[in-house]
Amino acid sequence: MNKQDIVRLSWDEFDEMRDPRPEDNGFDAVVERAISRRGFLGGVLAFGSAAAVMGSGVLSSISTAKAESAAFRFEPIGIATDHEIHVPKGYRWKTLVRWGDPLFKDAEGTYSPERGVPVEFSDKVFGENTDGMETFIDGDKTILAINSEYVNPEINLPAEAEGMPRNADEVKLLKNLQGVTVMEIADNGDGYAVVLDSPYNRRITHETPMTMDGPAAGSDLVKTNADPEGLSPKGTMNNCGSGKTLWGTYLTCEENFNGYFGTTARRETTEGQVPDHEATEGEVRYGIGGEGRYAYEKFDERFDLSKEPNEPNRHGWVTEIDPLDPESTPVKHTALGRFKHENAEMVQAADGRVVVYMGDDERGEFIYRYVSNGTWAEGQPGDGLLSDGTLYVAKFNDDMTGEWLPLTPESTGMTIEEILVFSRIAGSKVGATTMDRPEWVAANPLRVEAYCALTNNKNRGVKANAGGDEQPVGGPNPRETNNFGQIVRWRPEGEDHGADTFTWDLYVMAGNPKAYNNVYAGSDNINEGNMFNSPDGMAFSSDGLLWIQTDGDDSNEGEFEGQGNNQMLVGNPETGEIARFLTAPNGAEVTGLTWSADRKVAFVGIQHPGGNWPDGNGKPRSAVISVWREDGEVIG
Ligand code: FEO
Ligand code: CA
Ligand code: CA
Repeated sequence: MNKQDIVRLSWDEFDEMRDPRPEDNGFDAVVERAISRRGFLGGVLAFGSAAAVMGSGVLSSISTAKAESAAFRFEPIGIATDHEIHVPKGYRWKTLVRWGDPLFKDAEGTYSPERGVPVEFSDKVFGENTDGMETFIDGDKTILAINSEYVNPEINLPAEAEGMPRNADEVKLLKNLQGVTVMEIADNGDGYAVVLDSPYNRRITHETPMTMDGPAAGSDLVKTNADPEGLSPKGTMNNCGSGKTLWGTYLTCEENFNGYFGTTARRETTEGQVPDHEATEGEVRYGIGGEGRYAYEKFDERFDLSKEPNEPNRHGWVTEIDPLDPESTPVKHTALGRFKHENAEMVQAADGRVVVYMGDDERGEFIYRYVSNGTWAEGQPGDGLLSDGTLYVAKFNDDMTGEWLPLTPESTGMTIEEILVFSRIAGSKVGATTMDRPEWVAANPLRVEAYCALTNNKNRGVKANAGGDEQPVGGPNPRETNNFGQIVRWRPEGEDHGADTFTWDLYVMAGNPKAYNNVYAGSDNINEGNMFNSPDGMAFSSDGLLWIQTDGDDSNEGEFEGQGNNQMLVGNPETGEIARFLTAPNGAEVTGLTWSADRKVAFVGIQHPGGNWPDGNGKPRSAVISVWREDGEVIG
């Protein structure tokens, strides 16, 4: 595969390249599991009143997507296939900030539709490919912290580069346009806009100095030539989903960090020189190989595995940032484990301990939970709570019970440093359940339960994960070659997030009832009026509604016909009802959602749009939009 082909891969396809299916796996055709859709649904949506509603046919009455839902207070919208945003009648939207928009006055006017962002201003503008975000309030100020997950080199570099940086300046440009943006916004009568030169405004990139805490900080596994003490990592990367701590700081989650590393060592083959790198067990499990996606290794030794083999171990963490203190140093919390972190959903156990739920987004990887040793109470700082605790991994049983298995030296035979740096390997040792790509976890603010989007998994029932763990069909991952995804939810025993056991069900199984009349049609709360594929981003609004964002196939063809562009839907946890609220421009995923303090404005992330959205000319620009009701009422 040549460099240009690597640039064009999605992160999911990059995983596939690192851990390919066998040439002929005997499963070319989708083999449906011998369960009837109705039979399967007998075990789904078993909680509360939902089961009764599902059986009564009440949900079929919303399939026309016309009747206004009493629960949702908006009229669901149809699908779209165009390059526009669509919201319900009575709602409006506008762009808040786009890739390349200035955070500081001296960067005004530096973005150009032809060139994009000039390198000298690349850490003074909003980054590319917006993702998770959270709102912070400081007196009368509103501050957003927003992830920029990755860059599209073909959009950011001159055409002559063919998508691969040719020098250190081009690498610097790509590095600066990823990471995190902290910015103040204000509504001066015409909707929210960025406050240029606000003292809160800040970019955190692949170069920003950080510290590390927790048991793996300072261990031999994270020491490098540049940081022999293993306590001062640089930069945060591939910042996907987000979280907010109880004490009001931002959690940014490092996901596909593996793709940033490569080696400059070469060996001769009959086809010429190839990267010379033999991957270790840990590298294989995390998808690290000799060739990086952005050629960083050629221009920066930090990313060269032949010079700094431990540098990848300093990424793949949950990193805490204080958005209200621009001078603060971000902290990587090793106690929360190292994997392809999607987001970090913090709740509290009944006894006051801090609990963080986290998904590891790769086919056949796990769902994790961290529980602090100390407790937190209103008004206290979080000092030490994310550095001293226990990491657990989820095991889901077919009888709809489950348990959190602690990852300790006793349970794994590994040292605590190894457990945290190679959490996936530790999870395999205790028999965690391989999941259909765990994306965001969201906890219901009105009830002790949590939801995780399992976006899809074409390898379910087909091949093992990168660690050799089988991926059997069953439990919360009930469909072979799962192209649609599902949302699993669990309720901890005794209504306590600190409990080690839970019961689970599927809130929804996405599917296409137009294309299928079997298990791929989806669960009963899916109909032709609300269908979608690949749930990814999720967040609860304070009124207890579950907002679901998709990152899937938007071809509107074949088994995805009738699903249109990626979208944002709203789910009612009680009834199971789901309604479409927003559709994205073709090519984009919808990811990242937060609200103004009064919940009258929702901020929604639109990542990797196609065409030339939103400008109508030049390059497509990832952006955050504001959405509000024309009547000024709260959203939902
Ligand atoms: Fe960055 Fe798993 O999405
Ligand atoms: Ca995601
Ligand atoms: Ca995704």
